Amino acid sequence: MFNAPETQPAGLRPGIAPERLDLLSQEILALKRRHNAVILAHNYQVAEIQDVADYVGDSLGLAQQAARTPADVIVFCGVHFMAETAKILNPGKLVILPDADAGCSLEESCPADRLAALQATNPNFYTIAYINCSAAVKALSDCICTSGNARKIVEHAPADRDLLFVPDENLGGWVMEQTGRPMTLWKGNCYVHVEWTHAVITRIRREHPDAPVVAHPECTKAVRMLADEVCSTEKMVTYCRNSPATHFIIATEAGMLHRLRRECPGKTFIPAPTERCACNECRFMKMNTLEKLHECMTRLSPRVELPEEVARRARRAVERMLEISALP
Ligand code: 13P
Ligand code: SF4
Repeated sequence: MFNAPETQPAGLRPGIAPERLDLLSQEILALKRRHNAVILAHNYQVAEIQDVADYVGDSLGLAQQAARTPADVIVFCGVHFMAETAKILNPGKLVILPDADAGCSLEESCPADRLAALQATNPNFYTIAYINCSAAVKALSDCICTSGNARKIVEHAPADRDLLFVPDENLGGWVMEQTGRPMTLWKGNCYVHVEWTHAVITRIRREHPDAPVVAHPECTKAVRMLADEVCSTEKMVTYCRNSPATHFIIATEAGMLHRLRRECPGKTFIPAPTERCACNECRFMKMNTLEKLHECMTRLSPRVELPEEVARRARRAVERMLEISALP
């Protein structure tokens, strides 16, 4: 989703006064012009960040934007591996992010040395890595995928190779169901998406019988089985916009609701409840705030830096993904 360059923030978060929100947003837009910067934000970012961003989207859309931006500075509002991907694609550009500690449970689950050890057990492995992994893991991979193109990437993988899919076993399982192609799956998961259970989705479905359930493929199979649509965050927007339904149950991170409400006015989005607490917020994505965005654009820091060789090898795998993704 593209924002008009001077869009005013629409969402208010408790704890930030409207005048401060307005001032910070105006200054961020001025800093953007001064540095010839582009602000890329993931769909899970807080509303006020989404509202100052030039582009808001899923991992695939963000990587595509990063690959083609003419800006000198890329300000990446998402988690660390996403900003790293932007740097992999733009070694000569400055890539900054509001909080360098914004990690991801999937990335943590797959250290590069353990992946290399597994790869050594089968020289015929063709490694497909979900983009939610470190640059070092990308550098060990043959091709990257996102939830938006995983099926296509697997369908284009060489037929004579044994597929190894890392690090999300749920996304990998979903792609296996769709393609019929067996794969060895790394045992990682998203700590947010595995919170939804068959029991809670069954319950909320009963309360809203006319509302389709829209789930992210990082959800478990037990939840995916109950969903009317399983797709990436970007495809959720298209699905809900095009559907004749007026109410939707959304099983993904809470930031998505802002984007959906903004792009599908008049429709109602019900966050799928979790068994415990408000577990549908990713603590990593929510480390980014408007204040930290302002600070990082003022100081042009923290910056993403990568060892040249890691970046070079990772770039091959990311570019292969972009090439396959662009095929008809
Ligand atoms: P999308 O690429 O579908 O936006 O997913 C990214 C992600 O981190 C999901 O948890
Ligand atoms: Fe990682 Fe899950 Fe957060 Fe997405 S929602 S960034 S997969 S921890």
